[in-house]
This record gives sequence, C-alpha cells and structure tokens, in this order.
Amino acid sequence: MSALKDLIPVVNKLQDIVTNTNLADLDLPILTIIGSQSSGKSSVLENIIGKDFLPRGTGIVTRRPLILQLINIEEDDQLIYKSPPPVSNSELTLEEHLKRASGDDAPPSEWGEFLHIPGKRFYNFDEIRKEIENETARVAGKNKGISRIPINLKVYSPKALNLTMVDLPGLTKIPIGDQPTDIERQIKNLILEYIAKPNSIILAVSPANVDLVNSESLKLARQVDPQGKRTVGILTKLDLMDQGTNAYDILAGKVYPLKLGFIGIVNRSQQDISTNKSLDDSLQAEEDFFRSHAAYRNLSSKCGTRYLAKTLNQTLMNHIRDRLPDIKAKLNTLMGQTEQELASYGDMGIVSEENRSSLILQLMNKFANSFINSIDGNSMEIST
Ligand code: GDP
Ligand code: NA
Ligand code: MG
Repeated sequence: MSALKDLIPVVNKLQDIVTNTNLADLDLPILTIIGSQSSGKSSVLENIIGKDFLPRGTGIVTRRPLILQLINIEEDDQLIYKSPPPVSNSELTLEEHLKRASGDDAPPSEWGEFLHIPGKRFYNFDEIRKEIENETARVAGKNKGISRIPINLKVYSPKALNLTMVDLPGLTKIPIGDQPTDIERQIKNLILEYIAKPNSIILAVSPANVDLVNSESLKLARQVDPQGKRTVGILTKLDLMDQGTNAYDILAGKVYPLKLGFIGIVNRSQQDISTNKSLDDSLQAEEDFFRSHAAYRNLSSKCGTRYLAKTLNQTLMNHIRDRLPDIKAKLNTLMGQTEQELASYGDMGIVSEENRSSLILQLMNKFANSFINSIDGNSMEIST
C-alpha cells in the first residue's frame, strides 16, 4: 500500500510538466471544492493544509479559481527542496546576523510558490494571502467581480499530504458590486467546468445549519456525478445547528446516498478568526466537539478534519490506481509524438539548448520512466 502512496509525488511532477509545457491534458486527479458562498470552503481547505493563508470571511472572498498543489517535503526524498535559499551575508539584517552566528538559522521548512512569480519562495504565509488577494484584484477587479483565470500556487510543507486541490468562488444568487446580472449562471458554469471532468473528485460542502434538501453543492455535483461515485459530502458548521437538532442521520449515510459518504466538520468561526485562534487549537477543539457530543460520540472516529484529510488521500490514491493504464497509454503516445517531432528536425547532431522539443523529450523521458517503473512495480500489489 505504501508503494501506491509514492505514486502521488510522481503524478504531481507529471502535472507540472503538463502545465509548464502546454502538452495535452493528462486528466490527472484533482480535488475540487464547491458550495454556496460562505459555506466554509476556504476554511475546510485551510484546515486540510494545516496552514493559515487562504483569504476567508463573510461575503465573496474567493473570486478566482485557486489551483493549489501541496507537496510533502518529508515523504519526498528530494533534498533539493530542503536546501536553504542562497543568501549572502551582506543581505542579512543585524538580527539575522546574530541568529546565524548563534547557529540558529535553519531555513523555514514550509513555503509557497506562485506560477505567476516563478522562482520566488514565499516563507511568510501572510504574504501568500496578500499575494492571492492582489492577484485576485489585478485580474478580477476590486469590486466583487469574478474571473475564470486561475491562480496557481504550490505549497511545500512537512505537514501536508500530497494533494492537488481547487478552491472556487461560491454559488450566489444575486449580483452585487461589479458582478454581471447573470452572476449565478457564470459561477455555475465555472464550477461545472472543473467538476465535469471525470478526474475531478468533488468536495461538496453543505452548511449543517441549512436543510440538506437546499444544498446547492449537492445539486450541482449530482448533475455531473449522478451516481455519487466521486463526490465527498462535507457538512460544515455543525456547531451552529439549532439546539435539539443534529446531523447524525446525514453523517451515518441514511439521508443522501454518496459512495464516499459525508464527513462532519467544525471550522473556525469568524470570531475565532478575528481573535487569531490557531489552527492547532481549532483542530483540537473540533476533536473535542465530536468526542463529547452525545449524538456524534459513536461516529467521532469518522468525523473531523483529520479524518477528512486521510479519506481524501486514500480516495486520490484509488483514483490514480484506477486510471494508471489510461495515463500510461497517453504518456506513451505523447512520448512517441515528441520523438517524431524531434526526428523531423533531421540530423542536427547536437540539439540546441533552446530547442523546446528536446527539452520536453528529456523531461518526459525522465519522469515517464520513473512513472512507468512505479506502475510496473505496483501492478502486482494492486492485483493481490
Ligand atoms: P467560503 O466562502 O465557502 O470559502 O467560506 P469561508 O471559509 O470563507 O467561511 C465563511 C465564514 O463562515 C467565515 O466567517 C468562517 O469563520 C465561518 N465558518 C466556516 N465554517 C464554519 C464552521 O464550521 N463553524 C463556524 N462557527 N463558522 C464557520
Ligand atoms: Na466567503
Ligand atoms: Mg472561499
């Protein structure tokens, strides 16, 4: 089983190549979070990531798709990730000089990188949030407008599971600010564009304080996944339900059929955010909530953010495993095409460094080989 887990970084690298070289879409799996505005989508993602950096809050905050690739740097033995950024002594502040002199200058172990700012590592996650906000405003304007052009962010962290996910604008009904009159339709189409792909695993968020029959996310998910095979139900705001009511039946799978089930979540409230309650404290509070709640006590091992993260990683692995034969075939075709293209350049001897095709070929070969090796290495394990 652990060998399967090793596939995920490889698949992430492939995704990188595909993104950076504009090759045909390999249809790699991706987690897509949907739900009505302020249902808690960004909060859920942030809890899974274990890092506080997504713009969140009441009203429309997420206004462009955010494609977020998490990379676990301890499971990944590429030491290259761990090397500190080259900083010459002359660039250090006095404080940093003192730190370095005391030997206490280990580089931060987590950082983010944006596709639109190549090569720059953001060690400060408040700056990541600011950059997302600025990039959002740059393209979607400052007055509640939305844009379908995604922001791409990679986060390297020893706490992260290897997952790729998309945060999307929430479903709304009524245009405000600079939004067009058909905002509802536009957001729906944007969401459908992401979840219609068969490789998309849909995280359908519904707030527990709204009746499930009114859930916008389940309605949309059903449109593209009528049998509920690749939809995970996420029930947020369990702490905000009316006294005397609970969501036991939904969580126990007795209300709405989803193969991957429903998982209950308690995120930080707006008050918790305003008072800077830490993520660790909030995860602990969530666990305590489920353990001590009369209705959820028996289910508590299958509730909460930690269980959700585990479930998602498992789901992602199963999905990749199911698609391996397909991905392998597509890779072979792509490599064949690239080789042919390269051959058509004729007998050039040494191919110039600028030659895009050769670069692609090198990359494809390097990663495809390790990828195919891991497939072959796993095939026996899968069949048992
Ligand atoms: P999004 O618009 O779906 O991305 O929702 P956000 O994550 O931005 O959250 C919207 C608001 O709801 C914020 O003020 C959150 O603090 C609050 N919120 C989200 N989930 C929960 C929850 O489980 N419990 C409570 N009490 N508040 C929540
Ligand atoms: Na919001
Ligand atoms: Mg959001």
